[in-house]
Amino acid sequence: KEPIITVIGSINMDLVTSSDRIPDQGETIMGESFFNNPGGKGANQAVACARLGAQVNMLGCVGVDPFGQVLVDNLSKEKIITQNVEPVTDKHTGVATILIKDNDNRIIVTPGANYCVTPTYIQQYLDVIDQSDVVLLQLEIPLNTIEYVTDYCSDKGIPVILNPAPAQLLSASILENCTYLTPNETEKLEITSDVDTYKEKMIVTLGDKGVEYCSDGNLKTVTGYRVNPIDTTGAGDTFNGALAVQLSKGRKLKEAITFANAAAAFSIQKRGAQQGMPTMREVIDFMEGATSS
Ligand code: RIB
Repeated sequence: KEPIITVIGSINMDLVTSSDRIPDQGETIMGESFFNNPGGKGANQAVACARLGAQVNMLGCVGVDPFGQVLVDNLSKEKIITQNVEPVTDKHTGVATILIKDNDNRIIVTPGANYCVTPTYIQQYLDVIDQSDVVLLQLEIPLNTIEYVTDYCSDKGIPVILNPAPAQLLSASILENCTYLTPNETEKLEITSDVDTYKEKMIVTLGDKGVEYCSDGNLKTVTGYRVNPIDTTGAGDTFNGALAVQLSKGRKLKEAITFANAAAAFSIQKRGAQQGMPTMREVIDFMEGATSS
């Protein structure tokens, strides 16, 4: 049986400009290339799960505009269930302005319709959440929705992976009610001043240095891969999607993290957040063939 994963999160159009350097304050420079790519941490993680064979329910909102339509069609093409994605009339579809220079990326997200993913919207789809093996969340939707969903899922015994990006200080109830937190090194320090209390549920991504997590009180590291990075946008999303798929299949934590680490490394070999996301076969072949750093 395919695992069922519900992703509650953002759906953005990424407006990506690459240049040979990042402009200084007040400066205009000429870019090298421009692309519109489907993105948003929620949508990206949904695509990562779907490519790896999960049945994915997407809960989110888009504007009634051309970007919204393109993005929902893109998710449907990936076989993600989009029937509950709501078009909202008074907000634009979320956009992310992304500047890329080599493998450095800088992102500004303007949430628009993503902030319509409120607890009231979610309450209409509690039956979808109830059927899920895992619920996957990020922080590009309102924090009170994260509060509501983590509380609901904790009561129902549904595992929740919270990818706390972009980082914000989280309440004790969110930290307690989620099953796993997947910050990077800087996000880890921004979500709580009490990392120690929550260390057992923290899975910390370290870029090409791999992933750190805690098992029975001991800090463990899964080493990173040496690949030629073309675009690291969405690497964290691939990691979270792959982790959710493996955990929803009942895989052990170490095995799930090792797999997700490989999936993320694979994904940065192509331009765009979603374009490089692997299938199950691609991750397995990659793990057999690649060298760890
Ligand atoms: O994690 C990458 C994503 O962050 C991009 O696709 C962009 O939309 C921002 O949300």
